[in-house]
Amino acid sequence: MTLTPPAPALVGDRLATVGTPSLLIDLDAFEANLRDTAAFVADHGVALRPHAKAHKSSAIALQQVEAGAAGICCQKLSEAYPFAAAGVRDIHVTNEFVGEDKLLMATELASYVQLSVCVDAVAQVNALGQAATSAGVTIDVLPEIDVGQNRCGVTSHDALFELVDAIAMHASLRFAGLQGYHGGAQHIADWVARKETASRAAERAGAFVRALQARGVRCTRVTGGGTGTFEFDVASGVYTEVQPGSYAIMDGEYGGIAWHGAVRPRNSLFVLSTIMSATRPGMVVCDVGLKGLAVDAGLPRAVTWAASEGPPLAYIAANDEHGKLQIIGSPDAGTSHLLGQRILVTPGHCDPTVNLYDQYVCFRGDRVEAIWPIDARGLSR
Ligand SMILES: Cc1ncc(COP(=O)(O)O)c(C=O)c1O
Repeated sequence: MTLTPPAPALVGDRLATVGTPSLLIDLDAFEANLRDTAAFVADHGVALRPHAKAHKSSAIALQQVEAGAAGICCQKLSEAYPFAAAGVRDIHVTNEFVGEDKLLMATELASYVQLSVCVDAVAQVNALGQAATSAGVTIDVLPEIDVGQNRCGVTSHDALFELVDAIAMHASLRFAGLQGYHGGAQHIADWVARKETASRAAERAGAFVRALQARGVRCTRVTGGGTGTFEFDVASGVYTEVQPGSYAIMDGEYGGIAWHGAVRPRNSLFVLSTIMSATRPGMVVCDVGLKGLAVDAGLPRAVTWAASEGPPLAYIAANDEHGKLQIIGSPDAGTSHLLGQRILVTPGHCDPTVNLYDQYVCFRGDRVEAIWPIDARGLSR
């Protein structure tokens, strides 16, 4: 016997009947984010390569490509599989990797898609070169340079030269440019401070490019940048490609930074939840906690009523499957009438929240218009 729970939503359902907790996408906001960001980046003559680790859904990646993206980024090799299977033809893995299982995935992927990967050690280059030669595939390789993140990436021009020389030793590998990503810059709340940090990162990247040029090595692709800095990166004159991920769906952390530029992505991602206990004054309990909301970037900041009017709420604690909500400013208010009411919660951080769900329930107005599988969920090898 196969016994499975009923689907939380079907296309055509009213939002009011969608099972909770569910991960929602507001299609009007989502489509505007894809369209406006693609137009803004294209206006600067720079390529847009959205990072799919934010949404983990091939249905979204295909729309991004349709909207003009040059391809997508993945953070992990296994994560790239559903996108390759769905027909995304150009995938950049923005990360280093080590080990036989990874080499196997890299060479397999490279036989289906235009694959580029990152390295920051000669040992990675040599292992990849041997594996690619044995498999009869060619792989584009982008050394990662540290532009301020202090994580992966080479920190000196000499270390970069060693990598470029090592890549040249393998006929199965192609030097395809540089990656310089500064994650720490993305969420700097102050717009001017963020702009200055992005500009310092671009200067560092530019110095690496010029050092290569001085050695006679042309660098035609410099990729990096995220949702918080792409507006600066596209104007830097250094980056030829930007990698924002969260911009399509956004989250509470990005909602908390200052935006003054020409493009400002809107929040399109929500967790729909139901008040399922209301036994005491001033406080109610909803049905989404840690298993449906990542709290690494803090508790959800925005909570709104899904359909009904109600008092302002603050999400104050996440337990495994419970969320505690306080009525702001009314500790003695009665709550029993709120039982069964539904709320929209904006997650603090989209990437790890998305990774907790199997599907997006996509709505326009009060109707479910589409269900998109989160088919790269959990693929972190
Ligand atoms: C290498 C790289 N590029 C791009 C991004 C996209 O970042 P965001 O989702 O903040 O736009 C990330 C996110 O961590 C990343 O690690």
